[in-house]
Amino acid sequence: MGSESDIERILWTEEEISGRVGELAAEISADFREVSPPVVVVGVATGAFLFLADIVRKMTFPVSVDFVRVESYGSGTESSGRPRISCDLKIDVKGKHVILVEDIVDTGNTLSCLISHLEGKGACSVSVCSFLDKPARRKVHFELVGEGKFYRGFECPDYFVVGYGMDYAELYRNLPYVGVLKPEMYE
Ligand code: PRP
Repeated sequence: MGSESDIERILWTEEEISGRVGELAAEISADFREVSPPVVVVGVATGAFLFLADIVRKMTFPVSVDFVRVESYGSGTESSGRPRISCDLKIDVKGKHVILVEDIVDTGNTLSCLISHLEGKGACSVSVCSFLDKPARRKVHFELVGEGKFYRGFECPDYFVVGYGMDYAELYRNLPYVGVLKPEMYE
């Protein structure tokens, strides 16, 4: 378990991901080109680590980078619905623009929790940049802060997906593409 042979189908290849990340970075860079005060890009660990690393290298404006850790899924495939911030930001975001970087938005619980948290810390805007968006599974509506915008890489069909940062039982995050696991891989 944990290898390429466990994948039933690839949804987005490495090349498709790279192309889309470039487009998103260009769009965000155009939007934030003349923004002041500073912009803090906040990755939601662990799943966003590859997407964040790729997209910040293509952003053409000054950014600080930080991470938060939120836990909601445990080792299964269903959200607990009660996200918990288990590791908070190091950077003070008061009066700053924040771009939250996610690998996937599913129920919306994690983002809803994080946006409130950042607003409480005094961020002047909160945008969201999610690699995948699974609107079919949304349970919680989240409001962005200030002039914040929502950016997404791809709309994801309602499958449990792995790769490009996303895991099943903490495996498959290092796959360079996004795929669907063979059913027999689920415990
Ligand atoms: C995943 C993903 C998002 C969240 C989205 O994180 O990275 O943060 O779930 O789901 P939601 O919209 O239903 O809240 P997970 O808790 O699996 O942790 P991970 O990033 O460490 O994989």
